[in-house]
Amino acid sequence: MGRLSVMAYTFGALFFVVSCSFSIFYGVKVVTHDLPSEKKAQEKYNYHFVLVPEELDNEYWRLVEKGAKAAAKDYGVMLEYVGPKQSNIDDHLKAIEMSAASKVDGIMTQGLSDEQFTPLINRVIEKGIPVITVDTDASNSKRMAYIGTDNYYSGYLAGKALIADTKGKANVAIITGSFYKNHQIQRVKGFEDAVKAESGIQIIDVQESDISRVQAAEKAYQILQEHPEVNAFYGTSALDGIGIAQVVQKYKNNGNIYIMAFDTLPETLTYIQKGIINATVVQEPYEMGYEAVIMMIDIIEGKKVPSIIHTNTKILKVGDLPPSHPDRMEARY
Ligand code: BGC
Repeated sequence: MGRLSVMAYTFGALFFVVSCSFSIFYGVKVVTHDLPSEKKAQEKYNYHFVLVPEELDNEYWRLVEKGAKAAAKDYGVMLEYVGPKQSNIDDHLKAIEMSAASKVDGIMTQGLSDEQFTPLINRVIEKGIPVITVDTDASNSKRMAYIGTDNYYSGYLAGKALIADTKGKANVAIITGSFYKNHQIQRVKGFEDAVKAESGIQIIDVQESDISRVQAAEKAYQILQEHPEVNAFYGTSALDGIGIAQVVQKYKNNGNIYIMAFDTLPETLTYIQKGIINATVVQEPYEMGYEAVIMMIDIIEGKKVPSIIHTNTKILKVGDLPPSHPDRMEARY
């Protein structure tokens, strides 16, 4: 072998040894590095829960998510927030189904209708995955617990407050998120029961908004065209009151139309401050989310939880807003 070939062989052998050591070193590193970090991820979270809302980007549901995420952080839970981009029953059911298929430790969602949600919730429970209903109950299902507003009672409160505020004389139009969803049905029923003995209160029309502000505004406009005698509105989901207020502010801003809204989103409070919305039904979405996570942990850990927890609900009017509310500050100057 010539000198040159000896050098070439030596170099080749050296290169082989070095690359082998690299591969072994990095191979071992990958294995030993990946395993503990996977383990770390498992160790970091005690549980994996999913929250499935009616509509992902709805401001109301973002508050439920915020509460649930805060509890998840406090209690070492990995929380996913998945669901329909815009209110859609099929997508909602699919999101529950997929969460169950990926074997999460618990699912928090609404029980929007008995026909569609009860059988699915029961199937998920039978698979061994606990389900808690939040905001809207499916009371006939095997769900482990419900946390949220007493929807019938909140509607009843709205009716009683409207009677008091209008001195028992009003032609009311109702705009509801849906004719078919449990919470909306109960909010309308509670209201109807509260006003039924009042001869001066007439319910002139009930329309549906599909929980969309735009549709609520369209329906409010249409009602004002078709029923000029209407002088009061009741909106039963978070964006209904805002849609109604937009129309009333634009076309009938004479102070003669009474509006009872639902929820306390910033825009609702601004309309209350302006005197366009007269009152609103308060719900506690943040608390619902926070408490639902704690309840789920308790259920998994075998602790007894009440089957129904009703979060607070009450009526809020302009006088209840803190003086520091930004619009109130503006109004003063
Ligand atoms: C209801 C939610 C609903 C939201 C729609 C709230 O009043 O509690 O269930 O998704 O309104 O904007």
